Amino acid sequence: MKGRLIGILTCASVLLSTAVFAADSAMFITKCGGCHKKGGEAAPVNPADKAGVVWDKFFKRDRHPVNIAGTVTAGDLENVVQYLVAHAADSDQPEAAAIPK
Ligand code: HEC
Repeated sequence: MKGRLIGILTCASVLLSTAVFAADSAMFITKCGGCHKKGGEAAPVNPADKAGVVWDKFFKRDRHPVNIAGTVTAGDLENVVQYLVAHAADSDQPEAAAIPK
């Protein structure tokens, strides 16, 4: 009985994390990829371009060269940064090609 409950909980959390991951990468691709794409106004960027700590500070320290507040709300940005940190160069699952170069 206990084993079965743990099994159900594990399945639920795997489903949940997959859903969260999908939402995050989609948000990154729509929000950032609008400008950052091959042939777009900015060069493609990807989570594995930088280390997690760099992504974490990038927007907090206003390092982005243009203002994106009109396109990306603070909440969306927080979501995207979580995705970038989770798949940064030094993460367990670096993501190098969410936006093709
Ligand atoms: C309104 C268009 C626009 C949006 C939206 C946008 N960017 Fe940019 N971004 C630029 C421009 C323009 C540059 C400077 C030119 C370049 O790097 O190609 C830039 C530069 C950057 C750089 C610096 C390049 C480097 O290698 O250090 C990073 C990193 C970056 N953007 C990440 C992002 C992320 C992450 C998002 C989504 C939250 C995002 N940008 C959304 C236009 C945009």
